[in-house]
Amino acid sequence: MTHAPLIDPFARPITYLRVSVTDRCDFRCTYCMAEHMQFLPKKDLLSLEELDRLCSAFIGLGVRKLRITGGEPLVRRDILTFFRAVSRHLDTGALDELTLTTNGSQLSRFAADLAALGMRRINVSLDTLDPAKFEAITRWGKLAPVLEGIAAAKAAGMRVKINTVALKGFNEGELFRLVDWCGAEGHDLTFIEVMPMGEMGEELRLDQYWPLSDLRARLAERFTLHDLPDSTGGPARYVRLGESGQRIGFITPLTHNFCESCNRVRVTCTGELFMCLGQEDRADLRAPLRASPEDDALIAAIRGAIARKPKGHDFDYARAPGGSAIRGQMSRHMSHTGG
Ligand code: 5AD
Ligand code: SF4
Repeated sequence: MTHAPLIDPFARPITYLRVSVTDRCDFRCTYCMAEHMQFLPKKDLLSLEELDRLCSAFIGLGVRKLRITGGEPLVRRDILTFFRAVSRHLDTGALDELTLTTNGSQLSRFAADLAALGMRRINVSLDTLDPAKFEAITRWGKLAPVLEGIAAAKAAGMRVKINTVALKGFNEGELFRLVDWCGAEGHDLTFIEVMPMGEMGEELRLDQYWPLSDLRARLAERFTLHDLPDSTGGPARYVRLGESGQRIGFITPLTHNFCESCNRVRVTCTGELFMCLGQEDRADLRAPLRASPEDDALIAAIRGAIARKPKGHDFDYARAPGGSAIRGQMSRHMSHTGG
């Protein structure tokens, strides 16, 4: 590392960067996107070269883990070129982990190449194992290619973590089926509490809100849950199931305060740096990227932004102004900040 590492005002080292490489997706999950989305013009997106410069600058400042998100990252044209480029930091040892969050639709095409360039783990979003329900929740998706993609990732030697958004009245009845399937396949499983993001039109998220405290209690009816110590610095809490030995995660952004150990920041596909998922404050990194082929201005912009990383977030249905912000408290979609 050629520069002093990034430490925020609350003494948290920033070692984890999440970068969205596109706002586009081949699915339209009801809790994530409206059916008719207005996507960004191409000129607003960072080019693959700009994304590489940006990631490399952060790695030079001490980022050790890089997660690529979207939208759906694997629908971005030539994305493998970008993955190959940033994987050089794995080879030099500057980066510990390069990983991806994907909906799995294109994974069977990419799995072997991603594994070959050093990707060891991958997160795949999967809310149901029922083909009809899958089509309903994703609007445009099909289950079979996703299952093929997951199988391809496993066959290529990658560890797979399944991310399941807990949705009341939707996948409540599939809790044990999902747990058993992941156990049989050897995949980790993390449940995510649905978050109030974006303008969802007709979707009322409070109707779909299934608190993970409830999910956890149901899990405890069949399994012995052993709490595991936190290791990621992230929002997930993990348990080990006594009977199967499986590890199950819970991400509860609305009911759990995990900010003290936050080690991460996010960059959108337009080069906006969000210091906290739950706050609107951001810094533009595209202007300094485009202003000069040298990284000095970029690095100064990153440092300036980290210096104002907030202590924590503030979204909670109960704390919403007047208790009324049921839908879309945050004005941006998940596909904008990339989860
Ligand atoms: N609440 C919770 N999770 C969400 N995701 C997308 N939108 C939401 C939301 N409103 C999840 C996806 C995927 C990850 C990238 O973010 O299901 O697992
Ligand atoms: Fe696409 Fe993921 Fe959003 Fe679904 S949740 S629409 S797969 S970005």
